[in-house]
Amino acid sequence: MIHREHWGTRLGLILAVAGNAIGLGNFLRFPVQAADNGGGAFMIPYMVSLLILGIPLLWIEWALGRYGSKIGHGTAPAVFDSLWKSKLAKYIGILGVIIPLVVVIYYTYIESWTLLYSFFSLIGKLPHTPLEGNVQDYLKPFETFLVSIIGANSDSSLFYAVPWYTYLFFVITLLLNLYILFRGVSAGIEKVARIAMPLIFIMAIVLMIRVFTLSSPDGRNVLDGLGFLWNPDFSALTDPKVWLAAAGQVFFTLSVGFGAILTYASYLRPKDDIALNGVAGASVNEFAEVILGASIGIVASVIFFGVAGTQHIAENGAFNLGFMALPAIFANIPYGEFFGFLWFLLLFFAGITSSIALAQPAIAFLEDEFKFSRKKAVLVLGAFLFITAHIPIFIKKALDEMDFWVGTFGLVVFALLEALVFFWFYNSKKAWNELTRDNDIQIPSVFYYIMKYVAPALLIIILLSWSIQQLPAKLSENDLNVWIARGFIIGLIIISIILVKLAWNKRGKENVSAST
Ligand code: TRP
Repeated sequence: MIHREHWGTRLGLILAVAGNAIGLGNFLRFPVQAADNGGGAFMIPYMVSLLILGIPLLWIEWALGRYGSKIGHGTAPAVFDSLWKSKLAKYIGILGVIIPLVVVIYYTYIESWTLLYSFFSLIGKLPHTPLEGNVQDYLKPFETFLVSIIGANSDSSLFYAVPWYTYLFFVITLLLNLYILFRGVSAGIEKVARIAMPLIFIMAIVLMIRVFTLSSPDGRNVLDGLGFLWNPDFSALTDPKVWLAAAGQVFFTLSVGFGAILTYASYLRPKDDIALNGVAGASVNEFAEVILGASIGIVASVIFFGVAGTQHIAENGAFNLGFMALPAIFANIPYGEFFGFLWFLLLFFAGITSSIALAQPAIAFLEDEFKFSRKKAVLVLGAFLFITAHIPIFIKKALDEMDFWVGTFGLVVFALLEALVFFWFYNSKKAWNELTRDNDIQIPSVFYYIMKYVAPALLIIILLSWSIQQLPAKLSENDLNVWIARGFIIGLIIISIILVKLAWNKRGKENVSAST
C-alpha cells in the first residue's frame, strides 16, 4: 500500500480539526443567524440540533475517515465503494469531493476580503462616520465601501467591476492557501493550526473584553446584549424556520456533511481514537462560536444599535454585521483602527484554517486515486481554483447561487448519504463496531439509535421542508448569471464522474495484473 501522510501529534490534530471547524461561520454566520432568528429563541433549537444531529453525524464522518485510513483512501468515493457493494457508491461519493471544492472557491474569496479589510483598517482607510441619525444612515458609508470593494456598483447586470486591489488580495490569499497545502498535512496544515489557533483565541478574547466594556450614549451595555441572546424564548420551539436555521448552522459550523472531516480523519492511524477527538474538536468550536462569536458581534451591535437595530442588520444579509456594523462601531471608539484590524485579522486566521481543510479532499482524491505527488496535486488544484474563482469574483449573484446549492443544500444531502451508507447500506451492527472500536471514551449506546433512525429521519424532514420552502423560488430564477453558476456545478459533477470512472478502470487493471 502506498504511503499516506499522518498527523504529527494529538494536540496538533485537535488544533487542526478545531481550525477546520472554527471559521467565518463562527464569527460572521452564527451571530447573524442567531439575531435573525430571535436571539434567545434560536439557542434551544441550536443546542438540540447539536446533540441529535451535529455530534452523531460528526462521529459518523470521523468513523468513515478512520476507515479510509485503514484502506488507504481519504475521500468518500473510495470509502463508500468499499462499504457499500453497489456500482453507484463511488459516484455518489463524489459529492464528498465536489462540495468542499465548490465551497472553497468562494470561501477563499470572502476570506481575502477579510485580509483586505484588516489592512485597510490598519492604514485608516475604512470609512469614519459619527453615530448620528438612524442605523441605516451610519451603515450607509460602510455599505458603499463594501459595494466598491466587490465592484457591485458596476452598470452591467452580469459583471462586477472588481478593483485591482481586491483581485490582488484574492491572489495573495489563494497563494498562501496553496503554500500551506503544499507543505502537507503535518508540516503545513498542522503547523499553521498550532500558530493560528492560539492567536485566534487571543484576538477574540481581546475583542470580547473590549466589547464587554462598551456602553452606548443612551445607556445600553453588555447586559442588554447578553440578555438578547441568552434569555430563552420557548415560543420559537414550534417555528420550523428556526429549527431549519439552527440545524443548518450546526452543520456549517462543525464542518459536517462536506467530506472535509472525513479527509482529516483519514490521516489518523487506523487504530487512533475518534470519539474523544471528535468531541474535543466540537467543544473547542462551540466555545469559539457561542461564547466568543456571539459575544463580539451581537453584543456590540445590541449595545450600539439596540435589539431592533441588530435584527434589522441581521435581516439584511450575512455580511452586514461583520463588514458594516462592527467597523461602524470601531470607527467610534478610541483606537478603533486597531480593533478593526484585529477583528478582520481574526476572521482571516479563522478563514484560512478552514479553507485549507476545504481544499484538502480534492488533494487527497488526486493523491489517493491518481497517485499524484503532493506537488502535482497542489499545482493542479491551484490552477483549477485560480481559474474557477473568476466565476464568483466577476459574475454577479454566482456566489450566492453556489452557496445555496452546495453550501446549504448539498451538505444536507451528503450528510444523509453518509448516515445511510454506513448504517443502512453497509450494516448497522458492523458500522457501530467500526465506530466504537479503539476509542478513548465510550460513545453512549443511545447514539446507535440516533445514528440509525433519528438523524436520517430528521435529515429527510429538513430536506423536504427546505425543498418545499426554497426550491420553487430558487428555480424560478432564470437569468444568465445563475445559469453560469449552475452550469459550472453540473459540469463539475460530470467531469468528476468521468474521473472516478477512469480511476476505477485503472485500479481494476492493476488488481488484475497484481493477481496474475
Ligand atoms: N466550519 C467552517 C466555518 O465555520 C466552514 C466550513 C463548512 C468548513 N464546511 C467546512 C470548513 C468544511 C472546512 C471544511 O466557517
